[in-house]
Amino acid sequence: MSKGTQTKLINPSDKFVVGVIGCGRIGKIHVQNLVQSIPGIVIKTVADPKLDDSLRSWLKSLNIANITTDAQQIINDPEINVVIICSSTDTHAKYSIAAAKSKKAIFCEKPIDSDLGRIKEVLAAVKENNVKFMVGFNRRFDHNFKRIRDATVKGDLGKVQIVKVTSRDPSPPPLEYVKVSGGLFFDMSIHDWDMARFQAGDEVEEVYALGDVQISPEIKGIDIDTAVAVLKYKNGAMGLVDNCRQAVYGYDQRVEVFGTKGCAIAENDVPTTVKIYTKDTTIQDKIPYFFLERYMGSYQEEMKQFFDCLKTGKEMPVTGQDGMMDIVVAIAATKSLKEHRPVKISEVF
Ligand SMILES: NC(=O)c1ccc[n+]([C@@H]2O[C@H](COP(=O)([O-])OP(=O)(O)OC[C@H]3O[C@@H](n4cnc5c(N)ncnc54)[C@H](O)[C@@H]3O)[C@@H](O)[C@H]2O)c1
Repeated sequence: MSKGTQTKLINPSDKFVVGVIGCGRIGKIHVQNLVQSIPGIVIKTVADPKLDDSLRSWLKSLNIANITTDAQQIINDPEINVVIICSSTDTHAKYSIAAAKSKKAIFCEKPIDSDLGRIKEVLAAVKENNVKFMVGFNRRFDHNFKRIRDATVKGDLGKVQIVKVTSRDPSPPPLEYVKVSGGLFFDMSIHDWDMARFQAGDEVEEVYALGDVQISPEIKGIDIDTAVAVLKYKNGAMGLVDNCRQAVYGYDQRVEVFGTKGCAIAENDVPTTVKIYTKDTTIQDKIPYFFLERYMGSYQEEMKQFFDCLKTGKEMPVTGQDGMMDIVVAIAATKSLKEHRPVKISEVF
């Protein structure tokens, strides 16, 4: 983790005083990006129950005034007006509701929760307290995927007919993680349900999902590791999502949108586009292996847009409703897989 420091501590002219809840893998990325890339804000407090010496000293090096194990300090602090929630998924709803009741703007990592009832409670608290709320579906801010969406919105592709999303991890997670992940459709495909909805600019009406265990026999009966889902959108367009927990060649992330006037394809993002031709072969750069390497730009951009919306009052680019509908598709896909049939969204929502 690189350094980069906050230039000053709390100052009355700082418009946004931020508290970060949870400082694991993604929390550190957001802290770093906030410090390095977002002017006019200050992180006052970071809370994480697992504060070791190295985390403490890194946070201190960034001039963060309060480093605590107790997230409630952030909720109770009237000076903090923005909360960034990066703790484990099972805590997102609790902290979102508490932050909303304390009238703080909220950036919540995906997913809001895996339970629909709980998500509805969060959305109700956000509405009742009239606070800004954004969910961290960072891939919408990826330069390639955003370029496709911009082309569609401009009308360059005509009416969207087919959306294809390929998302394959380089290697499977440990068994212990799979046991508590909530399943591939919730913890991995959730980004792809969101991408599929984002690129089509429409809601899914029906899902038919197939899935199997093809790489990790030890997870049989617990989860699947390879899946395909066919989507039907309300406007008649169709979608195809394919996922695998293992792609031996790297982190395979591609999107295609096909419409009546054309097609836009985002291939994998490689460090350079150079191809080297020799007598025997043609080679080019390998695709990235690690999600942070692939998506760092999108994490920076989503934070910029979050604070831009806070400053301007514009609608958040990923709403609580988006966060809820992505989970609804995951629930329908899970039902489809179990019952071996297409499932209408109206059956689960
Ligand atoms: N948008 C993305 O691409 C992306 C990527 C990774 C993770 N995530 C999401 O971010 C969340 C965190 O994932 P991670 O990979 O950073 O996990 P992690 O385990 O590395 O970090 C989670 C941190 O939260 C802390 N924590 C747990 N309970 C807490 C509490 N009550 N209060 C404060 N902190 C608490 C843990 O101690 C840990 O340090 C998950 O919900 C995950 O789905 C999103």
